[in-house]
Amino acid sequence: MSTTSLLRLTSEEEALLAGEGGEAVRRAMQIVVTLGRIYDAERLLPVESVQVAGVSYRNLGDAGLEFLRDWAAQGARVTVPATLNPAGMDMRDWRRMGISDEFARRQDEIVRVYAAMGVWPTCTCTPYLVGNVPSFGAHLAWSESSAVCYANAVIGARSNREGGPGALAAAICGRTAAYGLHLDAGRVPTHRVRVRCEVRSPDDFGALGYWVGRQVGGGVPYFEGLDLPAVGAEPSHAMHPEAAVAGDVLKLLGAALASSGAVALYHVRDVTPEARALPDLCPDDVPVIDVDDLAPARAALNADADAIDLVVIGCPHASLAEMRRVAAGLRGRRLRTAFWLTTSRRVRDLAEAEGLVATVEEAGGLVISDSCVVIAPMSELPYRTVATNSAKLATYALGHAGLRARFGALELCLDAAVTGRWPA
Ligand code: F3S
Repeated sequence: MSTTSLLRLTSEEEALLAGEGGEAVRRAMQIVVTLGRIYDAERLLPVESVQVAGVSYRNLGDAGLEFLRDWAAQGARVTVPATLNPAGMDMRDWRRMGISDEFARRQDEIVRVYAAMGVWPTCTCTPYLVGNVPSFGAHLAWSESSAVCYANAVIGARSNREGGPGALAAAICGRTAAYGLHLDAGRVPTHRVRVRCEVRSPDDFGALGYWVGRQVGGGVPYFEGLDLPAVGAEPSHAMHPEAAVAGDVLKLLGAALASSGAVALYHVRDVTPEARALPDLCPDDVPVIDVDDLAPARAALNADADAIDLVVIGCPHASLAEMRRVAAGLRGRRLRTAFWLTTSRRVRDLAEAEGLVATVEEAGGLVISDSCVVIAPMSELPYRTVATNSAKLATYALGHAGLRARFGALELCLDAAVTGRWPA
């Protein structure tokens, strides 16, 4: 941080910072301005939308709930479209997850406080699948690392990885500080990744993201050698089916990059919008990473455990196409383990209309909306070893949820759910 601030505010922003818009806005401006000073921003930018994280009672606790109540009581209201990250439970069917009454009561209050501030209680990490679809080049203040990666890479919008309070502050004052990925300079690739092995299945993309994220940290990888159709900012239901599938695998790639590393933007040559617009986007003098084999990544993502007691699909939250694949794989089967398919409420409703939810439930599984294993109170639940096709979940399972993980293809996960053992 510079000792002298570079940040210049407009007269309107100065007035808001001085409290002319009320105490709630003053607090919001103070957070945004402080971040701007820390990161040497020269100005603030209006944001098109916000994704607010910090929702699970497991993470927020009573102190976090009090902080939100207090801000809401001061009159905090969002001034731009804002969506909400997952909560620690399914907001309607929490009892089926084994959540206690006490946790549910607190969790419900947190979501109500956000809703009272005007945040759309979507409770999903895939806001771009439920109507919060940014435009190309739009400035955002999104938290939730996988969503940030998707917005930056797949859509070509511009967001830093915001923390929960920073994102909520941006939603209240409608602004964020212009630094990092808001600027062209922050979006230039820092590593060239030459993919020289086959990367086809969704779990291949997750394994690749995990492997590269570990090596680039917070860099901006530029992938070459991935065979995918072009993607862009259309909502997935409006995309060509092939582009929607590409969107799904890029969602898994970005989630893994963001969890093993701190990646918030990547480019894929000839595929993602900024790489398509500028064929020579990647500088010649950046470090090169060659990926010849995904086996080491797969080995690192797998614990030494064969007995499975929970299978989780849908991290990030499943799209309708992913729900269809899962239902097709479960039709007519009977599950031995607990099985959670996590998704947004909106996608669940669409899946229910197609009979997909019934298929999963007839097999003995649960379709869980609004929530996520990593932020649910897993220590209160009887699960110890999870199988998943998500490299992000496999990366976080132990640290955040106290679970050991098995990682592999959807088909392997479904077989594990039927037999209770990870297929040899
Ligand atoms: Fe979403 Fe939870 Fe995975 S927030 S990306 S389902 S860890």
